[in-house]
Amino acid sequence: METTIQIKPLVFRCFFFSLFLSMLFLLFLCRQATTKPPTYVDTNTNTDLRIRPGYTSYEAYIQRQLNKTLNDKLRRIWTTRDWERKIQIFSIFFTELKHKNLLSNSSKSLSIGARVGQEVEALKRIGVSDSIGIDLVPYPPLVIHGDFHHQPFHNETFDFEFSNVFDHALYPDKFVGEIERTLKPGGVCVLHVALSRRSDKYSANDLYSVEPLKKLFRGSELLYVRTVDGFGLDTEVVFRKRVTLRS
Ligand SMILES: *[C@@H]1O[C@H](CO)[C@@H](O)[C@H](O)[C@H]1NC(C)=O
Ligand SMILES: *[C@@H]1O[C@H](CO)[C@@H](O)[C@H](O)[C@H]1NC(C)=O
Ligand SMILES: *[C@@H]1O[C@H](CO)[C@@H](O)[C@H](O)[C@H]1NC(C)=O
Repeated sequence: METTIQIKPLVFRCFFFSLFLSMLFLLFLCRQATTKPPTYVDTNTNTDLRIRPGYTSYEAYIQRQLNKTLNDKLRRIWTTRDWERKIQIFSIFFTELKHKNLLSNSSKSLSIGARVGQEVEALKRIGVSDSIGIDLVPYPPLVIHGDFHHQPFHNETFDFEFSNVFDHALYPDKFVGEIERTLKPGGVCVLHVALSRRSDKYSANDLYSVEPLKKLFRGSELLYVRTVDGFGLDTEVVFRKRVTLRS
């Protein structure tokens, strides 16, 4: 008699104990899933693109970027000594792209992270009249306010996008995602990046090959990679957004 009475609670106790253990295990799994840091690039398999540590928040990142863009001394240099020289060099780059039929006078064009807009001015001067730039600090009329992580444009707006600030992207997948979103199908993106040298202290990432770019530009095909001499940037990488058939 005694034993059967004892067994029942024991069975129950075992049952509840195992239930308790399962719950603990489930909780543990949930925590694992939610506490994982947001990895925008698989840093284990993709060491050719490294996000620089040290940004505690997106706000801190923006503040740091603004610090360079708003620097009075730099702005004076950009708009005086650098102005004409940079426009000349950008004009040569863009004219070459015209000869390759990647850009034309009728291309609606965007320069990403254009600062005071020398590249926008260069595009206009060679005849690409519908050109605009975005930056955190506007410089009208060439450059309007815009964060390249959240471009202020509708889907499929541009035929051509240019940027030489990929290294400033804290979230490279958003940087590229926004380009692919706002390019028209068949639109062209030209990036000038530094592969063999490290860029400045305001950079948010370091790129060591074009492989990470190929992965990030999921909806595009790589047209070519070539060496250039573009204000400390050594490589031109050109993608074309795929034309996908809609159902
Ligand atoms: C911005 O620059 C000022 C001085 O130039 C410096 O004191 C400040 O710490 C900088 N802020 C950031 C977020 O880098
Ligand atoms: C493009 O614009 C430039 C500058 O206005 C002009 O010289 C050139 O002839 C134009 N090209 C075409 C193909 O219309
Ligand atoms: C714009 O493109 C994004 C990404 O390609 C897509 O998720 C979104 O639904 C599109 N928005 C509109 C209004 O078509």
